[in-house]
Amino acid sequence: MNYKEYLEFAKEIATEAGIIIKKYFYEDNNSNYKGDRTIVTKADIEINDILIEKVKEKFPDHSVDGEENQFGDSKYVWVCDPIDGTAMYARHIPTAVFSLALVIDGVSTIGVVYDVFTDNLYTAIKGEGAYCNNEKISINNYKLSDKESVAHMDTWPTAEYQLMDVYKELGKQTYLVNIGSIVRSCMCVATGDFTLALFPGTKHKNCDIAAVKVIVEEAGGIVTNLFGEEQRYDRDIKGAIISNRVVYDEVLKTIEEKIK
Ligand code: IPD
Ligand code: CA
Ligand code: CA
Repeated sequence: MNYKEYLEFAKEIATEAGIIIKKYFYEDNNSNYKGDRTIVTKADIEINDILIEKVKEKFPDHSVDGEENQFGDSKYVWVCDPIDGTAMYARHIPTAVFSLALVIDGVSTIGVVYDVFTDNLYTAIKGEGAYCNNEKISINNYKLSDKESVAHMDTWPTAEYQLMDVYKELGKQTYLVNIGSIVRSCMCVATGDFTLALFPGTKHKNCDIAAVKVIVEEAGGIVTNLFGEEQRYDRDIKGAIISNRVVYDEVLKTIEEKIK
């Protein structure tokens, strides 16, 4: 099996996920709060189950690490966030996306993110560039203080790292937004629409950043944890900095100064 075939498989799953995401979008999608106060819907479960079924069928020796369900134990892991942005999705606000990565021995190797609401399919194979609907994409070169710069700030009450002081500092220079989905925001970094995204997620939040890692880096950007270190995507992560190459060092320094 070569990487292109893995990518084709991931795209097929993304297409199926898109159909399910749309199907429940206007309906009562049976949303429930989980222990960490995030939301799970009928669509999240259905997508996660389909992925497990298809991986078992096609790659029985691979495993699945889905946000809602897992299967197997392998060096080849399909890491999936069936719907990222469920808080918006459950409220019928169309910013949620599907995210899937093939992680090989901890390294994000294939990434697919699908925004069914705009029909944008973001894809990357490690070493082969990043694409949106088959067109090459790349990060921007803005400084934080450039008027074009937009940064996504993520935070929630139970996050291990509280970044409010960091946002306060960065907000002196740049326009801060939160569109309700870290993955969708990171695709904006990959296409150059946003300059930066910060994510304080840790426990089982590899699901949020696995596909982002390969897509953003193949688009020319940088993805590390909040302390400037490389991450493995088959285990918990320590937050994430997702940015262009111009602002990365300054952002890392601000984080070092503001969080313990
Ligand atoms: C959420 C999104 C959001 C972030 C939340 C995450 P989910 O993921 O990434 O941007 O602020 O903390 O839990 O729950 O919609 O998969
Ligand atoms: Ca998520
Ligand atoms: Ca999710």
